[in-house]
Amino acid sequence: MKVFNHSKELNALKNKLSAKSIGLVPTMGALHKGHITLVEKALSENELVIVSIFINPTQFNNQDDLKNYPKTLESDLLKLKALENNIWVYAPEVSDVYSNSVTSKEYSFGLLESTMEGAHRKGHFQGVATIVQKLFEILKPTKAYFGEKDFQQLQIITSLVKQEQIPVKIIACPIIRHEDGLAMSSRNTNLSDKQRAIAPIIYETLQKAVALKEENSLEQIEIWITDFFNKHPEIELEYFTVAEEKTLQKVNHLNGEKTRAFIALKLGDVRLIDNVKF
Ligand code: PAJ
Repeated sequence: MKVFNHSKELNALKNKLSAKSIGLVPTMGALHKGHITLVEKALSENELVIVSIFINPTQFNNQDDLKNYPKTLESDLLKLKALENNIWVYAPEVSDVYSNSVTSKEYSFGLLESTMEGAHRKGHFQGVATIVQKLFEILKPTKAYFGEKDFQQLQIITSLVKQEQIPVKIIACPIIRHEDGLAMSSRNTNLSDKQRAIAPIIYETLQKAVALKEENSLEQIEIWITDFFNKHPEIELEYFTVAEEKTLQKVNHLNGEKTRAFIALKLGDVRLIDNVKF
């Protein structure tokens, strides 16, 4: 495993190596099994795998969230080292990626952006698209791996690649969960023991919603979920939406299109998201 802080050094060596295929796994670190599964998939499909570890400031709409984001570079490197030799880690400083201006580029993602995470975290996807495009331009991967945990992000990046005509194949990877059903997330480490014990209720409730769909309208299910979380003293629900996978637009009736149920909520100060096929 090699670790680079500067893209110049990485690219100098990459040019010498001329690997047939390069898989990129962009991350913000605090690596868990969800990230590692992406890396393993990339290793199985590419000669060289680059894992980027970079907490991207432009995608945080809340400065406290940025400050509190877990930073665990040393243990991240140990986890990657335990895998295979042909992993390169790109862990840059802000200046290596953004030079002078730490701002987002302006993109137009239309309805894909105006809903759910885009509606609740202003500017978030402009920041995500900016950093992902920069990583694609710097590292020029053949394939890039993203998790369905951030399903809206995956659709935004698919749209970005199309709009900007970037020659990279986007590979979607399924959500990895803890045994109790909680979707793995770097933010889970910010949960107190009590909050962590409550957190599996998110996936349990999503599964109940799926079970209810045979005999209830979507409206009834939404009311049930909203009431359920409103009564829960520790949880503040931000949204529960059943939407088409492709367009991410809310559906009022199941019409045979592929749909997912998406949820975002706060457990204390920790904001968590999840989704399931619906
Ligand atoms: P981060 O939250 O670190 O996630 C990095 C990648 O891991 C994303 O593609 C995310 O969807 C995936 N991932 C996270 N938890 C997962 C889980 N439980 N199962 C499967 N995949 C999971 O997403 C970001 O970073 C950033 O926005 C980034 C794309 C790196 C841009 O800064």
